Amino acid sequence: MIWVSFSDYASLSTRAAAIFLSAIRQSPRIVLGLPTGRTPLGMYERVVAECSREYHCFRDVVTFNLDEYAGISCEHPGSYCTFMKGVLFDHVDVDPRNTNIPDGTVRDLAAECARYERDIAAAGGLQLTFLGLGSNGHIAFNEPGTPWTSRTRVVELTESTRAANAALFPGEEVPRQAITMGIATILSSRRIVLLASGEKKRAAIERLRSGERSEDFPASALWEHDDVTVLVA
Ligand code: GLP
Repeated sequence: MIWVSFSDYASLSTRAAAIFLSAIRQSPRIVLGLPTGRTPLGMYERVVAECSREYHCFRDVVTFNLDEYAGISCEHPGSYCTFMKGVLFDHVDVDPRNTNIPDGTVRDLAAECARYERDIAAAGGLQLTFLGLGSNGHIAFNEPGTPWTSRTRVVELTESTRAANAALFPGEEVPRQAITMGIATILSSRRIVLLASGEKKRAAIERLRSGERSEDFPASALWEHDDVTVLVA
């Protein structure tokens, strides 16, 4: 695991965007795993700014988002689908058919999870996955206690995660369930870059850095992988 520390969030975002851009320039058909949340916003902003100057930046790039709320349609303002359009997809030349986000509105959520795994495999597998970090150590929506063999599935969200994401659902109940890639799905990515920034993440960052490996702390599964970069500010 390679650790890189930055004095501020802007520098972390610049480095994350540089990794992102160099990967899509080197491999124009790359398959990316993409996160939502506040932490990657600066990265997306910089990627969009660069790509507006570039012809065919995203034309053949394939993306799979890490997770989506259950029972929330793509059009819902709080959905991760809306989030991704707002921060990235609507501003670059990505082919909408190449952007994948689990559909949390279907009746058979388990079938949707299986389809998502099949689609990742059919695309050739994840090559580079960016992750945020929950303050309880969650990655995507894999909460403490998640088996490291887990694949894409439906999960119950913890109260702390629901509270942390309440801003997306003003005046509404925060969904209780989500579809998330599992830990094994994430670990199957050839390369992983985790971004963590701010005081609220400090304890989780230090716990990850300690090298402890435990299912109580999902991010520690990343120690099982041989190509992880952690960017910290
Ligand atoms: C959510 C997302 C995670 C994200 C985490 C941290 O729960 N499902 O993928 O990493 O929040 O979010 P933030 O970057 O806003 O702190």
